[in-house]
Amino acid sequence: MTKHKVVFTPSGRHGEIEEGTYILTASRILGVDLASVCGGNGKCTQCKVQIGKGDFPKHQITSDNSHLSELSSAETYQINKEDLAKDFRLGCQTRIMGDVVIDIPSTSQTHDQVIRKAAINITIDSKPAVQLVTVDVEEAQMHIPSGDLERLQNSIEFKTGIPNISIEAAVLPQLQKALRKGKWLVTVAIYEQSKIIAIWSGEQKEAYGLAVDIGSTTIAGHLCELKSGKVLATYGLMNPQIRFGEDVMSRVSYAMMNTGGDKEMTDAVRSSICQMTDELIQSSGIDRDTLLDAVFVGNPIMHHLFLGIDPVELGGAPFALAVQTAVQLPASSLDLNLAAGAQVYIPPCIAGHVGADAAAVALAESPYNNDEMTLIIDVGTNAEIILGNKTKLVAASSPTGPAFEGAQIESGQRAAPGAIERVRIDPETLEPRFKIISSDLWSNEEGFDEVIKDTGVTGICGSGIIEAVATLFLAKVIKSDGVIDGSKSNLSPRVFENGKTWAYQLYKDSNTHIYIAQNDVRAIQLAKATLYASVRLLMDKINVPKIENIRFAGAFGAHIDPKYAMVLGMIPDCPLEQVKTVGNAAGTGARMALSSLASRQEIEDQVVKMDKIETAIESSFQEYFINAMAIPHKVDTFENLSQHITLPTQTSSDSDGSSDMPRVRRRRRSSRGGRPNKSL
Ligand code: FES
Repeated sequence: MTKHKVVFTPSGRHGEIEEGTYILTASRILGVDLASVCGGNGKCTQCKVQIGKGDFPKHQITSDNSHLSELSSAETYQINKEDLAKDFRLGCQTRIMGDVVIDIPSTSQTHDQVIRKAAINITIDSKPAVQLVTVDVEEAQMHIPSGDLERLQNSIEFKTGIPNISIEAAVLPQLQKALRKGKWLVTVAIYEQSKIIAIWSGEQKEAYGLAVDIGSTTIAGHLCELKSGKVLATYGLMNPQIRFGEDVMSRVSYAMMNTGGDKEMTDAVRSSICQMTDELIQSSGIDRDTLLDAVFVGNPIMHHLFLGIDPVELGGAPFALAVQTAVQLPASSLDLNLAAGAQVYIPPCIAGHVGADAAAVALAESPYNNDEMTLIIDVGTNAEIILGNKTKLVAASSPTGPAFEGAQIESGQRAAPGAIERVRIDPETLEPRFKIISSDLWSNEEGFDEVIKDTGVTGICGSGIIEAVATLFLAKVIKSDGVIDGSKSNLSPRVFENGKTWAYQLYKDSNTHIYIAQNDVRAIQLAKATLYASVRLLMDKINVPKIENIRFAGAFGAHIDPKYAMVLGMIPDCPLEQVKTVGNAAGTGARMALSSLASRQEIEDQVVKMDKIETAIESSFQEYFINAMAIPHKVDTFENLSQHITLPTQTSSDSDGSSDMPRVRRRRRSSRGGRPNKSL
């Protein structure tokens, strides 16, 4: 088989790649981060790359677009003429046929996302699963032929009342040395009053654990003192599974289409967690053999892949989980690099699309302890929703798709330095001002030009696109039906013709053109209508006419401005002061479960009581969805919001968000037996 030299920039990674290999596959082979949301279907454009042209003496390559396969129909459809002329191609559509240099622009890179999962302060009622007990053990004697373990068991029973305690197989080989080195005084770590999972000679006072939230995009871990729950170190990194597909359904698709694909993804996430563990141990200065317990949370597909379970059953109805109840097993069985006898606990999943991360969010926010009706939303490519109070609790997952994360948006990108995250539009002049991640300055403030010399203005991320659409609606550039009003081009050149529709230009320099296109508004409408309709179904389910509290959980949720989320119609009306962001609540719940056996029991009990809804098969979903396509909504009113902001009055021509519904397809999960789809 003929091979060709391939160099990826800016990473500089290079190698010999077989002719006919897709660029996206080559990036995976060479360990280069190249985004892919649609699983390589030529739909998301996240894998867009630019082909180097000419001689590259440093790499001894002459590179040219002609060293690649012909343009595919997906590429001619998805890439605009300007970019085609600049030799942009889609990595998932283009095969390597000769030597090439391939540049991955920042918008297609996956590694530089801002990981926003800091630990928040909580008080934990701490009674962990691990208990340290120091005991004197009777010395071995010639005339009493008992084993060291049996005498240790006797001492433990005498001190704690726990009879016949077992010992983790990995710890048994350490027993004799520890007893003799400690002159028969040892400390043991006892797990759940039943098993010795560590032993030290002499006294040992501290034991530690990990609380880890495995998100589809990022993994965040906290190293905590087990006794106090105190966080000693936090570390976050990108989930390496992103190279197999950015959203969870793309990863299920990868597992379906590639033999051994599930194992590849399992290995990738476990090795990242090992890397994270090394970093946390180093930064906190603890000994690895004191890292004894770990709690992992994640959505059902992350949960299954971490456990080494093929997630294909979760790709289609009836979305059967391999295991729904809590899981407890030795860390060594998951190839983790904690102490030899360390244990792992994973809270229960709520349903096939509502995972242990949502269970952890419920634990952290405990709506089941309150009288007020609380809505908790963890926004991602799949929004997980919990609604309830102390008498009823219901949960669902809403397949919102990746638009809220800046994907499938013309100028969209993940949250990274340089991405626009805040937008305001002057309703008179239609001039914008915006903020980018990594700077507190608005674009019209002094010093902003200096700031962007480092980062540039690279695209618009999820919170930015939500605010952009909401503020364009408030400025009457976008009508209630989501159509960009071309007549506003008379007022400002920022509204410009873009093919057969209109667009709004947010920013332009010699390299970058950032704008909101009609299709972007549609993508956001689809996502927000899916979310809103799912919430309405939950309200119906427990017969709730209004919501008293709303909590946005998750890294992305932490950056949503509740006012603009409501203007857009992502969430129902609610007193604005009762809409709060709660940060990485899944991580908080994991920390609670790490330090408190009672918390583990609490969430296991609550999950059993929770009602679950599969939103896509509910008969009223379609009606709710169509009504929610309008901005903010076709029929629902927003009295609380109206006290803070004047919403544009709807005209009869733009009161219905379904005016061009043939182009708006309902987003739902796949049926069983087919390749998973984000939209059918
Ligand atoms: Fe290539 Fe989506 S278009 S991965």
